[in-house]
This record gives sequence, structure tokens and C-alpha cells, in this order.
Amino acid sequence: MTGGTSGIGRAYAAELARRGHSVLITGRRRAQLDAVARSIAAESGVTVEPWIVELGDPRARTAFLDRVRQCRPLDIVVANAGFGYAEPFVNGPLRQAEAMIAVHVTSVVELFHAVIPTMIDRGCGSLVAVSSLASHLPVPGGETYVATKSFLNSFCESLAVGLSPYGLRVQTLLPGFTRTDFHRYDPDFAARRSAVRLLHWDTPETVVRASLVALDRNRTVCIPGWRNRLAARLLALLPRTLVRALMRRTAAR
Ligand SMILES: NC(=O)c1ccc[n+]([C@@H]2O[C@H](COP(=O)([O-])OP(=O)(O)OC[C@H]3O[C@@H](n4cnc5c(N)ncnc54)[C@H](OP(=O)(O)O)[C@@H]3O)[C@@H](O)[C@H]2O)c1
Repeated sequence: MTGGTSGIGRAYAAELARRGHSVLITGRRRAQLDAVARSIAAESGVTVEPWIVELGDPRARTAFLDRVRQCRPLDIVVANAGFGYAEPFVNGPLRQAEAMIAVHVTSVVELFHAVIPTMIDRGCGSLVAVSSLASHLPVPGGETYVATKSFLNSFCESLAVGLSPYGLRVQTLLPGFTRTDFHRYDPDFAARRSAVRLLHWDTPETVVRASLVALDRNRTVCIPGWRNRLAARLLALLPRTLVRALMRRTAAR
């Protein structure tokens, strides 16, 4: 489980531990990650191992992957770590876009590549990548975010088709607004809070429950919550020219 310090990853780790799985959780906030591991282990009675890793750092990823390859049996791998805020792509620092691509794309590709052979040998296993409902939208200012999440949608759909004959399940999870630490780095978020307050917010626990129910039913794409599913359906019906015009208006406000 990448990104177990808080939010969706923490809820995922807690639920999997409750179901009796030993869990390896990653993060960068050491004190918080250790506290989460201790608390989930105490509540569930299973082993919860914290692993500090900056997923934007290739050397740290290699050490993490070496540890993951030693984990047996590997029932489920959840690529959840991610962040939303970066300075603007246009006229902003390129390294922020590169860091986001490393965390949202490269680290997931490497992680899945490292575990798939073991899962194929065993004839079972599940891979989950946490994308975002926003991946269906053109988002000025969030270009790299939505593009990296779109990559996950496409990557996992192909993996799901290719790996199903081997007994593996692959899911892309597309949450809508979820109450987590995700928005804490965004300096403008407080200013926009009154607008987004009107939207529906899920809890990380609801998102994880929906994901696991969908996984049991072997659903390749999971959009948690009927409001989000309805929004996704409506969006798919709209001409993209209209979607772009709407997003242009939203961005101009
Ligand atoms: N919350 C939402 O509204 C929402 C909506 C759609 C999709 N999502 C997706 O859900 C996933 C989980 O986010 P969340 O909402 O649960 O937010 P969160 O509470 O901020 O959790 C993000 C997790 O990712 C880890 N992480 C972030 N950047 C990292 C990096 N460079 N290296 C290693 N670990 C890193 C964080 O670890 P540390 O904090 O310890 O560094 C933390 O454990 C993300 O992929 C996000 O894109 C969230």
C-alpha cells in the first residue's frame, strides 16, 4: 500500500488489516506513519510495517521495490500515494510536473511490474491504482495531475484485460472529493472552500468500502458514490467542446 499515512491509503490499510492481511504501508511523514502502523496493528492484531519512501526519488523507490519483492504472499497491491497541488505548469517550475509524473506514473508502473510475475505464478492477486474522477476533465492548472491519472485509467484497463486469464484482478479507483489531507498543500483551497463546500464529500472509509466491493465483483473501474457515478455518466454524454467551454468559464472565475 503506497501512501498509508492518511486519507484513502490509511483507510485501505485499516480495512485490509481488519480482514486479516498483514500490511506494508508507505509515506514520508515518519512520526505519523509509525503512529498509524501502531494503531492499525493494535486494533487488528496483524503486522503493519511502515516504510518511509519518497516516491519521486528513484533510489528510494528501488529500496522499496526490493522490500516489496520479499513480501509473500502478495494478495493485493494498492498504488494510492499521490498529491494534487503543484505550481502552475505554464510558467511554473518543470520539476514539479516531473515529480508528479514520477509519483503518479513511474512509481506505479515500477510497482506493478515488480509484483505481477509473483501474482501470475500464484494464479491470484489484485492490483488497485487510485486515480481520480477529475481525470475525465480538462483542468487548467491541474494539467499534469489529470493527465497522470488518465494514464492510470488506460494502463489499468489494458492490464485488467491482459491479466484476467491468469486470475488477477486490476482496478482503477476514481474518487470524487474525499475528506483527507490531500488539499492541505493547496494555498488557494481555503479561499475556494465556500464553493467546494456545496459539493458532495465522501469519507475515505466509504471510498475504500466501494473499492473493495467492486474488487469482489471484479469491476475494473470503480467510481465510489452514486453522485460521482451520475456526474461521470453525464460528463460522458456532453460534447467535449462544451466540457472545455465549461471548464474555461470555471477557470476564469
Ligand atoms: N482527497 C481527494 O479529494 C481525492 C480525490 C480524487 C483522487 N484522490 C487520490 O487519492 C490518493 C490518496 O490521496 P488522499 O486523498 O488520501 O490524500 P492524503 O491524505 O494527502 O494521502 C496521500 C498519501 O500519499 C503519500 N504521498 C504523497 N506524495 C508522496 C511522495 N512524493 N512520496 C511518497 N508518498 C507520497 C502521502 O504520504 P506523506 O503525507 O506521508 O508524505 C500520503 O500517505 C491520491 O492518489 C489522490 O490523487 C484524492
